[in-house]
Amino acid sequence: MQSDAHGRTAQLTSKLQGFGSTIFAEMTALAQRTGAINLGQGFPDYDGPPQVLDAAVEAIRSGQNQYPPGPGVADLRTAISEHQQRFWNLVYDPDGEILVTAGATEALAGALLGILEIGDEVIVLEPMYDSYQACIALAGAIARPVTLSPPDYGFDPADLRAAVTARTRMILVNSPHNPTGAVLDDEQLRAIADIAIERNLIVVSDEVYEHIVFDDVRHRSIASLPGMWERTLVISSGGKTFNTTGWKVGWVCGPEPLVSATRAAKQFLTYVSSGPFQPAIAVGLRLPTEYFVELARDLQSKRDRLVTGLRSAGFEVYVPQGTYFVTADIRPLRSDGDGYAFCRELPSLCGVVGIPNVVFYDRTHENLGRHLVRFAFCKRPESIDAAVDRLVSMTSQEARR
Ligand SMILES: Cc1ncc(COP(=O)(O)O)c(C=O)c1O
Repeated sequence: MQSDAHGRTAQLTSKLQGFGSTIFAEMTALAQRTGAINLGQGFPDYDGPPQVLDAAVEAIRSGQNQYPPGPGVADLRTAISEHQQRFWNLVYDPDGEILVTAGATEALAGALLGILEIGDEVIVLEPMYDSYQACIALAGAIARPVTLSPPDYGFDPADLRAAVTARTRMILVNSPHNPTGAVLDDEQLRAIADIAIERNLIVVSDEVYEHIVFDDVRHRSIASLPGMWERTLVISSGGKTFNTTGWKVGWVCGPEPLVSATRAAKQFLTYVSSGPFQPAIAVGLRLPTEYFVELARDLQSKRDRLVTGLRSAGFEVYVPQGTYFVTADIRPLRSDGDGYAFCRELPSLCGVVGIPNVVFYDRTHENLGRHLVRFAFCKRPESIDAAVDRLVSMTSQEARR
């Protein structure tokens, strides 16, 4: 998209100025153009469980190809309810407290557009997934970032308290957290819950990486804390858990008034989506617990593979507790610490794509992420090894120069 001398994009609403096109589109296109290994966008380069894939084929063959019901296929809503109870001890009525969406992205958009008033403030944990700021802006609301700081990417509760004003309406939480891989512990969840209860705030909790946690770290939904179920919308999707990011089956669970408000906006976005994929994700959600344990175990070994490789290429690496992303500090390799320039050059320099973390920060705080790059490790071991080989040979060539 072309900008004028003042950096404004022609024809684009003022609400979306600065959000012209997502970095993922730019970097994935660059990967395709250059044939580079894409450690940028978070999608696996391998398929999900065969039972889930077979169920989608079966749904297509058996004629489930028309508009599904507005709230989502009933069996999927039941499976989501069972899953929330089985893993997180959260109870939701499939009729009224669960809504199926076009991925977590639409659940987030629906919640923000359906609930926020113009001028409301939303506390967000920064760095953050890129759709948050854009959807908050579309809703006419204002994002108030609270920064997560390395090395462990926790937040200071005093910063959270200081960010709350008379206009604050919502706290948008994401744990396990993209891009840092941090998982909020009980103390941090409690700090958020205390403020939300004290100031009567709504919490939107993006838990798309709920099953991807490593070592002895455990995911806990903030909705399970005392006093939180009634003010929290929990959002997730099948994309990350079943390696089906292209199916865009997401959901939101919460008290009926919040789910209804989300649905009011969602019905005018897509109305419904992903008809035959909905029953297939229901099959996935009912897989034995071993499937979910193995998903995390496998990704943990991929994490270790990439972390070791990035360190051997000379990066300083922050080891994630969850998600399938690792953040690397490029300054040992590039003294100007310009992560954006580094990511633009990397495909032609060595055939690897990463995402500059600067895009995950509020525009006023871009210096905080300038020197950081996110690499995804939801890739086959041979893709990770090939990417590492390329990075290592690039850095050793530069060292010889
Ligand atoms: C934190 C976070 N939330 C939401 C999404 C979007 O999920 P979906 O593909 O289900 O829309 C992503 C995808 O990368 C994500 O990382």
